[in-house]
Amino acid sequence: MTFLSQCSTDTIASAAAALKGGALIAFPTETVYGLGADAENAEAVARIYSVKGRPNNHPLIVHIGSIDGMNEWAADVPEYAIKLAREYWPGPLTLVVNRGERAKDFITGGQNTVGLRVPAHNVALGLIQEFVKLGGKGIAAPSANRFGAVSPTSAPAVEEELSQYLNPQDMILDGGPCLVGLESTIVDCTKETPFILRPGAVTAEMIEETTGLIALSPEQTDIRVSGSLDSHYSPKAKVVLDAIAERGDGLIAPDQIPTPDGVIRLASPRTIEGYARDLYAALRSGDAQGLEVVVVLQPGGDGLAAAIRDRLKRSAHE
Ligand code: TXA
Ligand code: MG
Repeated sequence: MTFLSQCSTDTIASAAAALKGGALIAFPTETVYGLGADAENAEAVARIYSVKGRPNNHPLIVHIGSIDGMNEWAADVPEYAIKLAREYWPGPLTLVVNRGERAKDFITGGQNTVGLRVPAHNVALGLIQEFVKLGGKGIAAPSANRFGAVSPTSAPAVEEELSQYLNPQDMILDGGPCLVGLESTIVDCTKETPFILRPGAVTAEMIEETTGLIALSPEQTDIRVSGSLDSHYSPKAKVVLDAIAERGDGLIAPDQIPTPDGVIRLASPRTIEGYARDLYAALRSGDAQGLEVVVVLQPGGDGLAAAIRDRLKRSAHE
């Protein structure tokens, strides 16, 4: 496995060639790092599952370079989904739409839908562009972590998670820390109105404003979203929400909250965006320090704060 910290045009082109040759390429996006494979190569996609240790009926998001790529992968896309794509792509939004012929069972987990996203990151977009020049159509990429663990928001975090499972021809592209830090909003666009399957930085309010439709967030759905399992996004440390931190515990809390004596402060975000951006790195840092308990004081409010609480609830689930 090669770790590439200088993402020049040349390194991106060689990563795209490796991807086309069947290698796995971990790459930065604005949300979290993804572990990419050629979305048309069944063997390469199968390696994603083994490297992640992920059950193979969980569908993968196909990353494309622009809204034009949607026609390659989808069929019968409703008008409101096109509005969402026009407004928020490139950006932290995944649209689940009816699949076209190109989206095979090994991408969709056997479902008739496919998840599509245009990431807002120069390295990711450069990689997709070079890959398309070589005849590629899309990059399948889940978050670059082992199944159930915290998503990586930096290249060293990917290396720590996955390097022992990667092959010599695989690569990790370093594009710096992720700006959003929380996985994309996933919207099911196969019904009359948008259904939010996973909350994220594109909020229900934003979706309603763009589409003029009510965006529901069903508590329960028969559509498989691995991120919706009760226990997910979990560090090794036990995550305890909204408790008083004791000596030896880690603490993640808004900036204005003081650190009690003997408590190890892991993050002090000043804004809700800062909270999302720093959360996963802070949880990882608690693990790196061997902490047994990390206390997290949750942010209040809706929108991105609600997305943060969604992930924290699952991190804290035993
Ligand atoms: O921000 C993100 O979305 C990141 C970056 C790398 O793009 N990717 C990501 O992928 O979080 P992953 O696989 O870790 O989480 C995607 C979730 C999974 O829970 C998967 O089950 C769900 O999206 N998903 C993908 N395709 C779907 C589909 N057709 N229907 C329902 N859920 C789908
Ligand atoms: Mg994931």
